[in-house]
Amino acid sequence: MKGVYPGSFDPFTLGHKDIVERALKFCDTLYIAVSDNINKKHLFSQNERLEMIKETFKDNKNIIVEHFNGLLVDYMVKKNAAFIIRGLRAVSDFEYEFQMAFANRSINNNIETIFMVPGSQYLFLSSTIVRDIARNNGDISNLVPPAVAEKFKAIYK
Ligand code: PNS
Repeated sequence: MKGVYPGSFDPFTLGHKDIVERALKFCDTLYIAVSDNINKKHLFSQNERLEMIKETFKDNKNIIVEHFNGLLVDYMVKKNAAFIIRGLRAVSDFEYEFQMAFANRSINNNIETIFMVPGSQYLFLSSTIVRDIARNNGDISNLVPPAVAEKFKAIYK
C-alpha cells in the first residue's frame, strides 16, 4: 500500500519519525510530503525541511521525501496514493485534523485519512515546542533526529 504523510515539519521531530516507523508496518511505499502551511510562518525553508528529512531516512528505500505545493489530494492522485497518514496526539489535535480530513474528502472522495497515535513518550512533542526550546538555548537532541539537531546548532550558536 502507498501512503502519504504530509506536513509542514518545521522541524521534523522524533514524534513524526515514530509515526513514519509505525506507518511502514502497512505501507510498502511512504511518501513524506513537505509543504508550506498557509497558517504558519515557517522557521526553515521548504527545501531545508526536505533536506533534513531526506538525511534522516537516507538508508530507507521505502521512503520517498518530496515537496508538494497546491492541494494535497492533487499530489496524491499524481502519486497514485489513496491514504493520508496523520498523527493524533491529543484531543487538541482532533478538531483541526477532522476539519482537514473532511476538507480533503470533499475535494476527492477516493482519498482516506488514517490517524495514527505516536508512542506515549512523544505525546507532548510538537515542532513548536522544539523551536521554543532551541530558541532559548535548551537541548533538543532527544527530541529531533540528528540532522535536525545539527541544523539548529548552526542557527543558534
Ligand atoms: O504539519 P501541518 O502544518 O499540520 O500540515 C498541514 C498540511 C501542509 C498537511 C496542510 O496545510 C495541507 O495539506 N496543505 C496543502 C493545501 C491543501 O490541500 N489544503 C486543503 C486541505 S486542508
